[in-house]
Amino acid sequence: MIQEFEKIDKVQGDLKLPGDKSISHRAVMFSAMAKGESKIFNLSSSEDVISTKECFEVVGVEFDETEEVLIVRGKGAGNFATPFKPLYAGNSGTTTRLISGFLIAQNFKSIVTGDFSLSQRPMKRVVDPLRTMGGDITCSENDTLPIMVNPIDAIKAINYDLPIPSAQIKSSVLIAGLHSDGVTSVIEKVQSRNHTEKMLGLKVERTERGIISYSSKKNYPQAREYFVPSDISTAAFFVVLTLLSENSSLTLKNVSLNETRTGYLEVLKKMRAHIKIDNKQEKAGEEFGDVFVESSKLNNVEIPEKIIPNIIDEIPILSIAGLFAEGRFEINKASELRKKETDRIKAVCENLRLIGLNVEESEDGYSISGSPKNIKAEFQSYGDHRIAMAFGILSMLLPNGGKVNDFDCVKISNPEFMKQIKNVVL
Ligand code: S3P
Repeated sequence: MIQEFEKIDKVQGDLKLPGDKSISHRAVMFSAMAKGESKIFNLSSSEDVISTKECFEVVGVEFDETEEVLIVRGKGAGNFATPFKPLYAGNSGTTTRLISGFLIAQNFKSIVTGDFSLSQRPMKRVVDPLRTMGGDITCSENDTLPIMVNPIDAIKAINYDLPIPSAQIKSSVLIAGLHSDGVTSVIEKVQSRNHTEKMLGLKVERTERGIISYSSKKNYPQAREYFVPSDISTAAFFVVLTLLSENSSLTLKNVSLNETRTGYLEVLKKMRAHIKIDNKQEKAGEEFGDVFVESSKLNNVEIPEKIIPNIIDEIPILSIAGLFAEGRFEINKASELRKKETDRIKAVCENLRLIGLNVEESEDGYSISGSPKNIKAEFQSYGDHRIAMAFGILSMLLPNGGKVNDFDCVKISNPEFMKQIKNVVL
């Protein structure tokens, strides 16, 4: 479906977004793994998190859902049902890579499949370390799905040096480590999001060699209650729309403020964005608070390499902020963007060329200069939710508006995007 957007006048009001997708995946997974009943409040309404739930249903976990809570009847280690069909992870890389760490420790065969986009994405990055842990796990020769797993006797603990700063690889190894008699450690040079460590209460050390996280059987999840703060990555689209619209202000309520996710707010503040945080609180190790933003005149700044993993999902929308900022927007050392739901470097560059901007594309980034032409473009979402939302926001800022094709894909992370926009836009 093609979604049309008009230029908006301004943004105003309050918005309470659904729960963070990364935290929700883990809350569902850890509740399913624990023995007994867990409750999850403010779960993400994303299709990706539904994929995680459905994968656990295939191994016998039961869920009961009401408006405000998801009740999970977890099985406990060793009690899962033999899957009667492949586990279908839809579009979700997080589901696939994290669940693989769980599956290598089960006493049954399993297969993980996914949609067209997920079936193009690299899987050896988790298969390799999980094989080092003794896992009988393979992906296709092309490094893609399906993932096939056979049961083994015991998981070996390993010390793993993360070759790519990726929370999905780190979490997969740490989750497998929950099933081993030894202590598994993962070292990362640049910190990636740390929800797995926080939610499982893992020991984490900062050393000269990097940040080391440890997991073992004693960290195996117990049934409990989870409160999921609102999604900070979803908030980014509303933050940028407000900053770039005149006479605008918006408060985003109860947004996750985990320090491994707030990088884009820091970049925007350096760009001179007016952003304030209020009512900061913490529940079960995860911080959250209200984010207040108002119209701002932005300047482009240098984006350092070490912040890239922290802002990886927000780079498309940060690029839109950069378009309207003084100076040239430039991003480098972000080749992981090519491995997301689509090649996000190509997707951003091609879309910006449609409106006449000068875009220089490199293997690991791009730079943008010039000003948009006065046309109503039809942007391509490439079936990627974050590209669709980023170019939806851009369309609302252009004098003639714009269109985004295959816009339905926003449901991967935020099915309510258009409703939320209508609530705050005048
Ligand atoms: C995620 C980690 C990131 C991110 C993805 C969600 C997670 O991927 O891009 O949207 O929940 O662990 P990588 O860790 O592979 O960079």
